[in-house]
Amino acid sequence: MNFKQIGVSFKGSGSYVPNQILTNSKISNKVDTSDEWIKSRTGISQRRISGLEESVTQMGYKAAMSAIQMTKWDIETIDLIVLATSTPNDLFGSAPGIQAKLGANNAVAFDLTAACSGFLFALITASQFLKGGTYKRAIVIGADQMSSYVDWNDRRSCILFGDGAGAIAIEATNEFDNLIGFNMRTDGRKGSFLNLPSNKKKDSIIDNIEFSSGGFSPIQMNGQEVYKFAVREVPLIIQDLFKKVNYNSDKVDWLLLHQANQRILDSVGDKLKFSKGKILSNLQNYGNTSAGTIPLMMDEAIRKKTIKQNDIIATSGFGAGLSWGAALIKWG
Ligand code: COA
Repeated sequence: MNFKQIGVSFKGSGSYVPNQILTNSKISNKVDTSDEWIKSRTGISQRRISGLEESVTQMGYKAAMSAIQMTKWDIETIDLIVLATSTPNDLFGSAPGIQAKLGANNAVAFDLTAACSGFLFALITASQFLKGGTYKRAIVIGADQMSSYVDWNDRRSCILFGDGAGAIAIEATNEFDNLIGFNMRTDGRKGSFLNLPSNKKKDSIIDNIEFSSGGFSPIQMNGQEVYKFAVREVPLIIQDLFKKVNYNSDKVDWLLLHQANQRILDSVGDKLKFSKGKILSNLQNYGNTSAGTIPLMMDEAIRKKTIKQNDIIATSGFGAGLSWGAALIKWG
């Protein structure tokens, strides 16, 4: 291809969540907690848990297929598939598996890992290929199977997470740019606040040749530090973006934050002077699905016609890394 494009347009959305529902009261049969504690501290009532036959590839495929159906694109015309995930069912990459299931044989597909900022970083990455004129049509997926890596005996973290996927279809255009602006940040110095580390089990191959066998420890989190980071940095990065593109919250229809905790959503909304009615939230039903939350929320709001054509959305992802970012989008 290689012709000059100036921007991207948003063409379709899709999502998928597993059927199994894990309510707060069911968790309270396992660890010392209660529905009341979880709801008041997080806003979460329940989350979805993948069945044995489900995976990031399967959830990502279903979300992507649903987004493609909204666009009515011929699948052969898709050039790029970027899958944001931290929980791939194949560490070598789950995106090509999604490509195969879709039959998107002309696309290149790869994974991108940035935890709960993953979808946002993937959307920005894919957009650069489109704006640069390399590719015309892309599917950006956020999918995570957190249930496989949660320590289900740790009440401080297990209450937060769930499984799910969402996808967005974007297309290059030379008429306008509906990705109005973006910001991305990481601070690896604070990475220890939230980790899913390899478990480094010492083994030996032969004689004294040692190696670390593969595998991961469950999620480790310092909840208070992550909370403080989110309520401090997310308003700043959004404000900075508004300044760069000459916007303010009055000109924005929806604030769509990574769905981590209702108290984080409310605090960021307050700092940015967004009225409650503009803050999108569905974490009550799904908890934190990591890279899945933003496109899952977006798809629900689009299908319910809450988000309409030409609505302006300020979105922000934040989490492990530490990583965080923001984007200003016009839907359509
Ligand atoms: N049920 C009941 N009590 C719990 C509990 C649970 N599930 N989890 C922790 N507690 C207890 C603690 O043991 C502590 O008791 P203590 O005072 O006797 O020691 C008390 O509740 C307060 O703990 P604290 O950690 O201060 O709670 P909190 O108000 O900070 O809420 C989180 C904890 C995890 C909900 C909150 O810190 C949070 O949401 N942080 C952000 C995490 C996040 O979003 N991570 C993903 C980012 S992408």
